[in-house]
Amino acid sequence: MSGAERPDAAGGRLVTLRLHANEHPQGPSAAVAEALHALVPELHRYPVPSSAVETAIAELYDVPLNRVLVGAGSAEIIGLAWRAFTSPTRAAFFHEPEFELYPLLGTQCGTPTLSRPWPPDGDVTGQLAEQLAEASVGLVALSNPHNPTGAYRPRQTVADLAGSLPETTVVLNDEAYHDYAEPAEDELSLSALSELPNVLTTRTFSKIHGLAGLRIGYGIGSARLIGALRSLQMPFSVSAAAAAAALAALADPAVPGERRERNRLNRAALAGALARRGFEVTPSQANFLFVRPPHDRSCWATDLLDRGVRVQPAGTGLRVTVGSETDIAALITAVDDVLAVGRTRNLGEQ
Ligand SMILES: Cc1ncc(COP(=O)(O)O)c(C=O)c1O
Repeated sequence: MSGAERPDAAGGRLVTLRLHANEHPQGPSAAVAEALHALVPELHRYPVPSSAVETAIAELYDVPLNRVLVGAGSAEIIGLAWRAFTSPTRAAFFHEPEFELYPLLGTQCGTPTLSRPWPPDGDVTGQLAEQLAEASVGLVALSNPHNPTGAYRPRQTVADLAGSLPETTVVLNDEAYHDYAEPAEDELSLSALSELPNVLTTRTFSKIHGLAGLRIGYGIGSARLIGALRSLQMPFSVSAAAAAAALAALADPAVPGERRERNRLNRAALAGALARRGFEVTPSQANFLFVRPPHDRSCWATDLLDRGVRVQPAGTGLRVTVGSETDIAALITAVDDVLAVGRTRNLGEQ
């Protein structure tokens, strides 16, 4: 067995530790698993429309039902936003680096993309003013916390940005990782944000609820924005299983809090362990860390993969999912091995 391969818990299948996709290490809660089992006898039926999930979400955030749209992952809602709000003459703006889906959607939709380097202060307004002078911008896509840095942008900043733009420019406030963040006490509510004509917030069950494989997420925004997205959505895009799992997850509100706390502790432990090994670690409010490894080697991701750990190259660094305590231990063992080989090589070259 090579260093890249480790037997999985089920016995024998060879796996690589997945620290590249920001998945939750635990998967669904027991209540969600039970709801999925209970659904098996009904799987020959087409799903009922996902309005039960939309109603539960509308109640949770205290917004009218016509401001909520459920989709096959928040990725579906983001894709619909690209189709609805960009065109060959209406560009999308986002930072570099960003969530990998954004540039892909620009290519798939054949619509122009404007990008600027991620500003360390997170301020977009100045950058956008320059862009708006040159081109018509239909969509400003901001992951928040930002993927890959984990930086958090208060919702008030998103609201201020949207207010400074023409109403026809939609701000996508992509909150895939918001459940891991610790916003200030006076954070603007989603309900207040949805009052604005040009902010679409997306959220997901893929991350803290551990349901990435089922594909369910949602968008919240003004009735006009949500209506525009709904008119483009395929019928039955949300499966019965995904809807049942989401309802069970929403009925179990203790789970996100416990998982957030565990992630916070593990994130601090991982940040400390990597910093002690010479990594530059960016403060994060998500379930991943953006790090710049010591020594200017471009092959860190490959070196770690050779040792059974997959991380995501991102911009000038690496994005590493926090994972469980066991995942962290395995990652650090792999890092130590890469560093030890590097030291031996350096000695050999002297
Ligand atoms: C910033 C960001 N937004 C959206 C998504 C998509 O999540 P979903 O599984 O809900 O489609 C991801 C997935 O990694 C992400 O990183």
